[in-house]
Order: sequence, then C-alpha cells, then structure tokens
Amino acid sequence: MCGIVGYVGSRPADPFLIQGLNKLEYRGYDSAGICQLNHEFYVCKTKGRVSDLERALKHTPLKGCIGIAHTRWATHGIPSDENAHPHFDCHQNIAVVHNGIIENYRQLRSMLINEGHIFQSDTDTEVISHLVETYYQGDLLEAVCRAIQELKGSYALAILAKDQPNQLIAVKQDNPLIVGLGQGENYLASDIPAIIDHTAEMLILNDGEVVRLSKEKVELFDRSGEQITKKPVSIQWDPVQVQKGGFEDFMLKEIHEQPQAIQDTIAGRINERGELDLDREIPPHLFEGVSKVQFVACGTAYHAALYGKHLFETLMDIPVEAELASEYRYKRNLADDKTLLIAVSQSGETADTLGAMRLAKAKGARTLAITNVLGSTISREVDAVLYSHAGPEIAVASTKAYTTQLACLCLLIAHFCRLKTGENLAALLLALRGLPDKMSQTIKENAAALKAYGEKIRSASDTFFIGRGIDYASAMEGQLKLKEISYIHGEALAGGELKHGTLALIVEDVPVVALLTQPELADKMVNNLKEVKARGGYVLLLTTDQESDFSDVGDQVLRLPEIHPLLAPLLTVVPTQLLAYYTAKARGCDVDKPRNLAKSITVE
Ligand code: F6R
Repeated sequence: MCGIVGYVGSRPADPFLIQGLNKLEYRGYDSAGICQLNHEFYVCKTKGRVSDLERALKHTPLKGCIGIAHTRWATHGIPSDENAHPHFDCHQNIAVVHNGIIENYRQLRSMLINEGHIFQSDTDTEVISHLVETYYQGDLLEAVCRAIQELKGSYALAILAKDQPNQLIAVKQDNPLIVGLGQGENYLASDIPAIIDHTAEMLILNDGEVVRLSKEKVELFDRSGEQITKKPVSIQWDPVQVQKGGFEDFMLKEIHEQPQAIQDTIAGRINERGELDLDREIPPHLFEGVSKVQFVACGTAYHAALYGKHLFETLMDIPVEAELASEYRYKRNLADDKTLLIAVSQSGETADTLGAMRLAKAKGARTLAITNVLGSTISREVDAVLYSHAGPEIAVASTKAYTTQLACLCLLIAHFCRLKTGENLAALLLALRGLPDKMSQTIKENAAALKAYGEKIRSASDTFFIGRGIDYASAMEGQLKLKEISYIHGEALAGGELKHGTLALIVEDVPVVALLTQPELADKMVNNLKEVKARGGYVLLLTTDQESDFSDVGDQVLRLPEIHPLLAPLLTVVPTQLLAYYTAKARGCDVDKPRNLAKSITVE
C-alpha cells in the first residue's frame, strides 16, 4: 500500500505533487519519488520520507506542468532508491506509479525478460511499465488498456508517456483513486485530503475504470477502452480539517477532535427525545429474518467489532461473532442468507476486511459497512453503509475513527432493536448525545496526569492492560495504541486471566493500566488488582466509579465522568490514547508515522 498523486495543468506540477505526497504519507513512508514531463522526464527518487525527497529536490529542480509522484510502503523489494517509484520501461519513455500488488508479476517479469526487457528494480510494479512499452504505438490509453488485461492483483496506477505532454492515464482496480476536477488543471490522488485544498469537485473511481486527464478535460473509460460517463461528487470536507490546527501532531489533534466527531456522527440521526432515524441509511428489510450477526474487521476496527458483539449480545437475543477479517476466509464459515455481515473499517479499503465481506456476500449474507470514507470500495459493495463521519483521520494510529465506530455501533443496535422488538433504546441514545461533553471533560481533567504517567513509564519494556467484560475490549485497544506508537510491548488481559500465567511477569514497578467501569464486575476486578499490587505492579486505574475508595489497588486513580455503562468504552479509550501519545513523545517517537506501519492496508 502506497500513495499516488498526479497533476496536469499550466502551473509547475511539483508544488501540488509534493503537497499531495505529504498528505498521503500516512499510506507509506519507505521511499518517495516524483516524475515531471517537459519534453524529457525529470525524475527524483529517494529512500526515506517525503522530507528526504524534498531535500533531494533542492539539488535536482524539476520542470514540467504534468507529473506523477509516489510514497511507498514496501511489499516487493526493500526500501531503496532503485525500488522507489516511478518505474520506467527500457527506453525511459513510460513512467508508472503504482499502489497495490501485481500477483502474477513473477510470470510477467520472466516473460518480459525473455523478450529482452531489462529491469532496474525488484518491484512488482516495473512489469507494468514494460508491458505498456510493449503495446505502446502512440496511443497511451490503448496501450494501458491492453497492459492491464494481463495484470492479476490490485492496482491504482498513474502513467505518463514521454511523447504525450498533455496526457496522464490512470487506472483503478482494488485500490482507491480519486480525480479532482479543477479549472484548466486536473488532479489525481489516492484519497480526498490530498486534493481537497484545490477542489471539492471529484470523481471517485470504481474498479475497472480508466481515466485520461489533460489540463482541459477528464475522460472516463472502462477497461476495454469504451468511453463511459459518471457524475462528479461535491465533497463537503473542510480543508482546514486536514491541517494540524495548532496541535503538535495529527494524533493529538484527532484525540481532541473526538467530542466534535461524535457530535457529527449522531447529528441528524438522534433527536432530543432520544429517537433514532436510520431508515434511509439502513433499510429495515436488511434485518428481516436475520438470525445471526457476524462482524469482520482488523486492528483497532476489530476492537470496535468486539464492542459491537458485546452490545448485540447484551441487548438482543441473537448469536454474534466478531472475527478477525484476516482469519475469516481461512476457516469453516457458516454465513448464509440469514446472516448479517457487518464490516467495520475506517478506510473502507482494508484488503482482509474487503475479502471477508465479499466471501460472506457470495454465501448469500446481507452486508453492512461502518466506514469513514465516502465512496470507498467496501462502502460501494455492501448493501447498506453507516458512515461514521469522523472527518479525515491522518495519524496512522486510529483515535476518532475508533470512537465514532463505537458510536455507530450504538446507533446500529438501537435501530436493530427497534425493528426487531419495538423497543427504543432511548436511555442509551440520550446518553450518547451527552457523551461529547464528557469526552471534553475527560481530556481536560486528565491530560496532565497522563503526560506525567507517560514520562514515568517511558523506559518500561512491558506493560499490561486489564479489564473485564467490555472493559477487556477497551484494554485491547489501549495496549495496541501504546504499542504501535511508543514501541513498548503491551499485552491486554481479561482480569481473571492474569493468574493463569501472566501474573509471573508482574514484578516491582511493572506498569499495569486497569479499566473498571462495569458495576457488576467491580468486586472481581478489585480482586485482580490486589493480585497485581501484591506483586508490586504499578497500577494506573481508569474508572467511572465516583465513590469507591481504590487507594489500595491503584497507585494513580483517574476518575472519569459517570456514564451509561454501555458507553464507558467511548470514554475510557480517550485516556489510553493520551497515555500512548505522551509516552511515545517522551520516547521521541514519530507518533503520526510509526515505523513499519501505514494507515490503510490494501494488501493481504
Ligand atoms: C491502529 C489502526 C489499525 C486499523 C486497521 C484497520 O491504530 O489504525 O489497526 O484499525 O488497519 O483499518 P481500517 O479500519 O481502515 O479497516
């Protein structure tokens, strides 16, 4: 998974391309490259980040009002200058940037080598430039359409030919690609934030679509080269949302945006009496005859799925599974036409989640997505979509996308419950309306203590997060956040499991973050914490209990506002996000771009 960007117009291309790469860097940051066309290709590629590319460009200024660029997350071939995109054909006539994986690249590469082509890199992408070279006889669109017939796998592509100074060809197959429509200039990028500063009018490409951009127009074709038409959409995102807005990092900004994001998620969906209106978004017939619910998701979204499972099991009499999407396709699967499959995915592009959803659909299941990205692949393929309206999430570590997913799950259970039983979960929905204020209060009252705690544990090598019931899912999310941005190992445990092995690792001063929000489990959780304290563990207790004295089991006790117990995970996660953030900062980590990771994983 990588980010690609393209420009054609009358101005120098590099300001847009570099700005776009900076916005797309969350998709990968192993190497970056840019190619502009002005009679010749002007190229600069480098291992490392977009900032390294910008430094290199100071010594290699580029020319041209048409260009393509790329930021890479390595899959085939190590991060290096040679493997950085764009990739070229034998005669440097064709330039290609690619996001995705060409599954049959080995066969294509040996076929092309046998035909005499000379390869410069270890990437799968380079076969595309040589294939286009093979077919190119002056019509770039035709050559690209012929080349893609031979590709198996996923690809979003942007392609230039040296003798076509006003033409950029792009293709979308299983990886996102957006065209921005400007005045006398047109743009291309892997996602909306890379374009939104320049235009709100966009074409969201579907799989199998090929587009020819010139500065005057944008023409759309199917994979065989037949022209097709499609209406542009007007994207309502505020460009300011895509900036850091005075915060040091996107992650911190996005943590602080959560109260507003939740408000946006519920706006127009719950009224002041706690009544829900989702009928237009999720047609009631989707639930008719449903006897089983399956959630599929990855990473943080999987933790949201665990929350969804808890809600459905608590409030409805229906079997529910929450499956890791990466496992779902490789085990016996009982999805059928009475199954409701719910895919949870911020990006709507995660390959495993998409694959799991497609399998369930093929088995007859009804499909629903909770996603943040309008027009994403998953959103286009499911029967119904509930958008989380978190706004653009730029930091790799998910924060506001997660809490808005949880809010969507509350909306969904209320909708389902009303249709199935006639019961309106007004208390839950009204409590959800009150959540944004409690989130703001949580941030305000606890940020300083969490910063201090983060500094204290900065040198820890292991941390443990414990909770029972729904707090266990929150513990899993808390440890993932800390692990992914601070690189401190974290493990999440259901409180009762400690004594079955992991207690052996609890020694003097080992940090233990404990979540305690469910009144019926409080006594049991306190017992688990006593076991921890007896071994010298250093406990940070996050609780919504306002009264009990926890001084014997918590070295630090942070009391969060009282809340409906089913909404507690939307509150307790906030301090764990801040803890992860401050710990990572104390260790000098790049919180927005953690090593080895990327925002949306469009490969299996
Ligand atoms: C962690 C994180 C990832 C994603 C996962 C799924 O902070 O963001 O674990 O949750 O890669 O991504 P989406 O939700 O886009 O399917």
